Amino acid sequence: MCGIVGSIGDVKSNEIVLRGLKKLEYRGYDSCGIAYFKDGIQIKKSMDKVEGLISKVSDESSISIGHTRWATHGKVSLENAHPHKSHDENIVMVHNGVIENYKELKEIYLKDISLKSQTDTEVIVEVLNYFYKEEKNIKKAIKRFIKEVKGSYASIFLLKDDKNGLHVVKNKSPMLIGKKDNGFTISSDPLAVNDLVDMFYQIGDKMYARIDKEENIMEVFDENLEKQEVGFEKIDLTNDEISKGLYDTFMLKEIEEQPNVIRNLVKNYKEYKFDNNLIIGLKNSKRIYIVASGTSYNSGLIVKDMIQKNLNIATECVIGSEFGYSYNVIEEGSFFIFLSQSGETADSMLVFNQIKSKYPILAVTNVKGSQMDREADYSLLIHAGVEVAVASTKAYIAQIATMFILINKIVDNKEAFNDLLNLANYQEIVISNKEKYEEVAEVLKNYKQAFYVGRLMDYSLAQEASLKVKEISYINVLAISSGELKHGTISLIDENQIVICLINDKKISLNTRSNIEEIKARGGKVIVFSNSLTAQQEDDVVIEYNGNEDLLPLISIIPHQYLSYYTATKLNLNVDKPRNLAKSVTVE
Ligand code: M6R
Repeated sequence: MCGIVGSIGDVKSNEIVLRGLKKLEYRGYDSCGIAYFKDGIQIKKSMDKVEGLISKVSDESSISIGHTRWATHGKVSLENAHPHKSHDENIVMVHNGVIENYKELKEIYLKDISLKSQTDTEVIVEVLNYFYKEEKNIKKAIKRFIKEVKGSYASIFLLKDDKNGLHVVKNKSPMLIGKKDNGFTISSDPLAVNDLVDMFYQIGDKMYARIDKEENIMEVFDENLEKQEVGFEKIDLTNDEISKGLYDTFMLKEIEEQPNVIRNLVKNYKEYKFDNNLIIGLKNSKRIYIVASGTSYNSGLIVKDMIQKNLNIATECVIGSEFGYSYNVIEEGSFFIFLSQSGETADSMLVFNQIKSKYPILAVTNVKGSQMDREADYSLLIHAGVEVAVASTKAYIAQIATMFILINKIVDNKEAFNDLLNLANYQEIVISNKEKYEEVAEVLKNYKQAFYVGRLMDYSLAQEASLKVKEISYINVLAISSGELKHGTISLIDENQIVICLINDKKISLNTRSNIEEIKARGGKVIVFSNSLTAQQEDDVVIEYNGNEDLLPLISIIPHQYLSYYTATKLNLNVDKPRNLAKSVTVE
């Protein structure tokens, strides 16, 4: 969730780290900091986003480490911002992840140390320093560290005694080492350094690396200090993907990129040779589980219906953080699909690690080289391009479209690609009508609470739409199946409430219309979103669509992405970086 960047070898390491942090800021932006060698180890921190940090660093250095934080342990403050140092300033570290046994470690090893922050990171810095002092050798200290520290960590650190070295230790959280002629980069995401390197080494769990500036080499060791072979692989990432272009915000840019995301998917998959074992495995599976979190879970709800309808296989869509801890009876012949934009969400990874090697796994992600992409039996990329805004938009539609392509490959529907191209054209029309959604935002922005209702596909859409509005405009929006309203929630409806009704699914549209009457009868303000096939009332907000019904969600969601966007902008909120959130949730 936080972002880490390091650079060694290049005299412009500070500049590289700061530029990388800026690119990763969308992942966590509570505070940030940098440490580097310059007459000892210098540390600078800022609560002012990366721009604020940049203004504090004028030195040059050829070894630097940086961090942009999403708070887990301890409030947002300068003391809690990374880098953290040991009390004697021997070790300075930045860390991503969560240390599960930090309280026990503190109790055992740090009784005499008074910590400056409330973070688990400061605890592990001191614990490492304790081991280092006892062992008088960093490798031996790391061996004890890996054995004793439980949880996830992608950490890089500087050692006062080792002016040529940069050290990396990693478990569960992602960490990539990039190689260039005059040094190495270290980052939690390849994007941070994509203007400099395209060859990366993915350091494994419970491994330690030391990089030497003078010799320009890296040595990697496992938990028993056995030396490891190091191989760098190419990861292609273009630079222009992460600029806002002519847009003021990434979210608006990403909403409006959606027709091209669909066209791009067609381009990527039209001639693609799917692994036959994937096709046969899915087709013959007894049950399919879709595992996901957040928006990816919401797209999973749509995919679930698509699979059941087209492949006739019982399918469940489950939330990673629930499924990972529930009592599950999984029958033989089950097949798992993981939907994840980032390919590294900890809640989904929890399930992934539990079922890996027991059941076949297909990962559907947006990030080549992510943990799910690398470790699944099968992997399909959604080719949405980098999604920077915290609120996911284009990844939602790209996940569903990728699964649509796969499902139609299995049923041998030759029209699938044309259907997608047709969809993209209709999406353009929705985009050209965005003022209609802005008008609704003008109304919605005045409410502290709202309801989204719909049935079947519209209920799944309501869940995604309400998440969008909630996360960026901070309005408390409840998504309810309209049929369920009368079983309890309708007691909340009166003339002060606003209810947004979705009527896209034709087979249930009349039932939802009756539910709307029940809301109106209680004085609630109703706004109906429908499409050219289900529109009835003059004041419906209607989208035009005439195409494959399975793709209807990929167009019906767009007005609500706009509605959330405009509501938040009208409330003067930061749409790309909403409070308390981070783009990639790598802690449980
Ligand atoms: O990277 P993932 O798709 O696994 O992320 C899952 C959720 O954290 C993510 O969809 C989150 O809900 C978004 N902020 C929603 O817009």
